[in-house]
Amino acid sequence: MALDRPDLRARARAEREARTQLQARRVRRTVLRRDGMRSEVAGSDGSTRWLLNFCGNDYLGLASHFQVSGALQDAAALHGVGSGGSHLVSGHHALHDALEREIADWLQLPAALLFGSGFAANLAVVQGLLGEGDACVQDRLNHASLIDAARLAGCRLRRYPHADAQGALRQLRTLPEGAAMLATDGVFSMDGDIAPLRELAIVARVQQALLYVDDAHGIGVVGPDGRGSVVEARLDVEAVPLQLVTLGKALGGCGAVLAGDADLIGHLAETARPYVYTTALPPAVAGAALTAVRIARHEHWRRERLTALVQRFRARALRLGLDLMPSQTPIQPLRCGDNATALAMSAALDAAGFWVAAIRPPTVPDGQARLRVTLSAAHGDADVDALVDALATARDACADAARRTRP
Ligand SMILES: Cc1ncc(COP(=O)(O)O)c(C=O)c1O
Repeated sequence: MALDRPDLRARARAEREARTQLQARRVRRTVLRRDGMRSEVAGSDGSTRWLLNFCGNDYLGLASHFQVSGALQDAAALHGVGSGGSHLVSGHHALHDALEREIADWLQLPAALLFGSGFAANLAVVQGLLGEGDACVQDRLNHASLIDAARLAGCRLRRYPHADAQGALRQLRTLPEGAAMLATDGVFSMDGDIAPLRELAIVARVQQALLYVDDAHGIGVVGPDGRGSVVEARLDVEAVPLQLVTLGKALGGCGAVLAGDADLIGHLAETARPYVYTTALPPAVAGAALTAVRIARHEHWRRERLTALVQRFRARALRLGLDLMPSQTPIQPLRCGDNATALAMSAALDAAGFWVAAIRPPTVPDGQARLRVTLSAAHGDADVDALVDALATARDACADAARRTRP
């Protein structure tokens, strides 16, 4: 019988065409140089321009801190570029160890394990602990890596309405057999709100489920000494046996560290495929992260500055009637609704010298496109004031344009 398989190039073309129709195409913008929060960005016509970045995750301004880049250079001079192997063969370095110890000490947790990325760490936790017959119950707005992790683990995945601990309880009750994990973002990446961790901890305890908190956007920013959402919720390692610290957001570098219960971490270090079968991060990257963690732990003024900027942004934006979401973190999304409005707002801001990317489905639910504004301790008061004014001008211009085109 002649085969008649779908042509994958034709399928990709059709999907691209569908994304074009929905104004859901995604493009990369190339950064040529950075200077604090300003980036020189290449245009599609070969031109370049400087934009003030309000959509990154460098919340504490550590991504280009001179001590952090100095630590990277010094460690690269001493130890070279690559780790040369996976952790369990020959790639595990003293700087990896030192970073794990520093984070365990910061969070006052028994153990920590370094990964190449937060995405890989999430795959490792769920796949390393759950299998067929087990259950993973997740917030509907969890990061894509957690959703994919459950799919890859082959366990049953159930999602509950956003931040709804009762919903989590209902879902866990429907799956009484097998081991269970309750997984949530600490700070939600596209909304900026914080999970109801104390209520979720009670649900997890009652249902004998392991509570896992992905605190990618909480660490360094939320809680005393920036120790994250779990400490802010006054939960210990009994309540939250594992949590994820990413190094690529407030800590300004790249990679991630799982922290928590020593037995679980030890198990994952020997068995989790995304840990075992990959090259260890360059030791110099770990050295840079070690310096960044020390700065994040001790320079409280960075968090105080960030808090002041968040309040300044919200007060001014609300005064001008901007449609903010209820977030107290540096993630301050502005609702736009449809993709076209989000793109038009983003383009108007770009023309005014601000870089605020339009976030559209499937990253956020259908009809909830937004501008995900993010603030950093490295922004100035005047930067924030100018951004809010530009947002209000862009909103008014988009509303005028919509009125003009209405039949
Ligand atoms: C909530 C959350 N978890 C995990 C990740 C993945 O982390 P990484 O960028 O280190 O792979 C991200 C980053 O986009 C995130 O926002």
